[in-house]
Amino acid sequence: MRLLFIGDVIGRPGRTVVCERLPKLRERWRLDCVVINGENSAGGFGISETICDELIQAGADAVTLGNHSFDQREAPVFIARQPRLVRPANYPPGTPGRGATVVETQGGARVLVVNVMGRVFLDAMDDPFTAVEREISACPLGAAADAVVVDVHAEATSEKQAFGYFLDGRASLVVGTHTHTPTSDHRILPGGTAYLSDAGMCGDYDSILGMQKDEPLRRFLQKTPGARLESAQGEGTLSGLAVETDDRTGLAKGVWPVRLGPHLEETWPRSWD
Ligand SMILES: [Fe+2]
Ligand SMILES: [Fe+2]
Repeated sequence: MRLLFIGDVIGRPGRTVVCERLPKLRERWRLDCVVINGENSAGGFGISETICDELIQAGADAVTLGNHSFDQREAPVFIARQPRLVRPANYPPGTPGRGATVVETQGGARVLVVNVMGRVFLDAMDDPFTAVEREISACPLGAAADAVVVDVHAEATSEKQAFGYFLDGRASLVVGTHTHTPTSDHRILPGGTAYLSDAGMCGDYDSILGMQKDEPLRRFLQKTPGARLESAQGEGTLSGLAVETDDRTGLAKGVWPVRLGPHLEETWPRSWD
C-alpha cells in the first residue's frame, strides 16, 4: 500500500497547497491512503467543519488534530458527526470525538489512524502510551488492520522517538507533528515501522512556525502583551512523508520525505512517478 502523511496545515496557504496539489498527487502516485494533520487549518488555530470537508474533498482519508483540536468553538459539536476526524486519544474520558478511526481504502484495505499528544512541554494529558496501546490492541496490525498510522503530536523529539520504539513492529508508520519543522530522520525501525520525528507543516515557511514573523519575534524581545498571532500568507509548501507498506504484514518497505513548494529543498519519492 502507498500511504501519504501530511503535516500540520497552517491557515490559507496550507489549505491552498493541499487543495491544489493533493488531488493530482493522489492520482499520480496511486495513493491508497492519505492522512493530514489539520490542527492549524483554520487561520492557524483549530479546524472548522467546512475546512475539514475541504481537506477530505482534496483527498484526505483521515484528518488528525493536536493541542489546537478545540480552538474553534464549533469543533466539539461537529467532531462527533465526522468519523474521519481524529483528536488525540489521551484527552480525558468524556471529551468529544474519537482518538482513532478505521478508514477503508478503495482496494478494500483497512487503515487504523491513531492520534496522540505528548506530555513533555505540552498540556497535562492522560498517559499517551496507555491510550495508544488501547487503540492498537483493539485493532491490531495484520489482524483487524492492514496498515496502522500513528500521529504523535508532541514537542519533545525524545518522546516521539520513544513512541517509535514502543510501537515498532506494531504500526506501519509513527510520525511526529506539532513542531511545524520537518526533520530528516525518516527511516524504518528494526521491527519494520516507518518513523519520522516531525513531518513539518503545510504552510508559508517564510514565517515563525507558519505565523507572521513580527509578533512572535516581538514576544521574544519584549515580555509585554501584544497582537494576535496571524498565519503568514505567502505561498505554501506541502510537507510530509510517503510510505510503502508490505501487503502481507502491513509493515514499511520504503519511506521518503515529501516537500513540494518554495523555501525548502524539494523532495518526493521519485520511484513513485
Ligand atoms: Fe501544529
Ligand atoms: Fe500543535
